[in-house]
Amino acid sequence: MASSNRGLVLGIETSCDDTCAAVVAGGVGVLSSVVASQDELHVKFGGVVPEHASRRHVEVALPAIEQSLADAGVGPRDLSALAVTAGPGLVGSLLVGLSTAKALAMSWRTPLVAVNHVEAHAYATFLGRPAVPLPHLCLTVSGGHTNLMLVRSPLRMELVGSTLDDSAGEAFDKVASFLGFGYPGGPALEARAAKGDASAFQLPRPVIDSHGHDFSFSGLKTAVLTRARDCADGQRHGWREDLAAAFQCATVDVLVHKTVAAARELGIAVVSLSGGVASNRSLRLAMSRRAAAEGLELLLASPEYCTDNAAMVAGLGWQLFRAGALADVGLDAEPGWRPGVHPP
Ligand SMILES: Nc1ncnc2c1ncn2[C@@H]1O[C@H](COP(=O)(O)OP(=O)(O)OP(=O)(O)O)[C@@H](O)[C@H]1O
Ligand SMILES: [Mg+2]
Repeated sequence: MASSNRGLVLGIETSCDDTCAAVVAGGVGVLSSVVASQDELHVKFGGVVPEHASRRHVEVALPAIEQSLADAGVGPRDLSALAVTAGPGLVGSLLVGLSTAKALAMSWRTPLVAVNHVEAHAYATFLGRPAVPLPHLCLTVSGGHTNLMLVRSPLRMELVGSTLDDSAGEAFDKVASFLGFGYPGGPALEARAAKGDASAFQLPRPVIDSHGHDFSFSGLKTAVLTRARDCADGQRHGWREDLAAAFQCATVDVLVHKTVAAARELGIAVVSLSGGVASNRSLRLAMSRRAAAEGLELLLASPEYCTDNAAMVAGLGWQLFRAGALADVGLDAEPGWRPGVHPP
């Protein structure tokens, strides 16, 4: 029995190394969210191997979709639309999700919408909330991006700042790698930093008061590398934890300071935080404290929707579907699709 009035959307996300499928009602009610991680596949290489990622997506996409429908207790005929990430991301990975979504949309005769992965990260703060204040300023800080976006509506996001070099997530991953914490780096670094003393090392806060609303993390990464080389093995116990804590503290300082400064300059009273790095507890705590001190309202994406997931894709997909922004079978992957630019 078709129940399109519930606004059910199936989301499919394969832009990098997680195979994700989810069913969301009315753009905000998550009925299911399946994330099939490939971490164990890439761990021995210390990073994502694109060819392996694509092949694993091929194996896992349909089972993940079936699981998400089963978990939600719905069938294909209940869906109003199918939403798929079209970019940015790894082209081979994107193509697996796109081909799957196009084939299913044709065979189920279901409308298809194309979603921008970075906008979907910013949309994650809408999930589970009946209403979200607009406009608000969103810091989206993930593996490949560090963006400040002015969210005027789910369909109108304007990029006001981004990184001049590395993303914060990339810096977490690289620092974790050369401190020997393993892969994936962000969560491992956070765990080790919790045992360290951030004041044991003085690290720079690059472009904290310059370059407008843009960020830079490559100099900080290099500073950590230099300090690590100075601390030859056999030096005092715990220097790695101290250096991890100092790096995390510097990164959080820059992210929080620049977000608050941008909100002030743009006259925005509400800020939000999303993307994989937004699951970092130090960042969430520092942003919460600073927002409270500044009288800003803060929207935190739920940790399960910070790292890659398809619920954020399905949610934004519903908004696109309602606005009539449909894709067709000619839809192609857009590995470099910038947020705020429509259509792909
Ligand atoms: N607790 C944490 N602390 C710091 N960083 C974290 C934490 N958890 C995850 N990350 C980082 O988040 C990133 C992964 O987030 P996400 O899945 O959103 O990125 P991505 O999809 O690979 O990149 P993008 O979304 O930019 O295309 C990685 O860089 C990871 O190290
Ligand atoms: Mg992502």
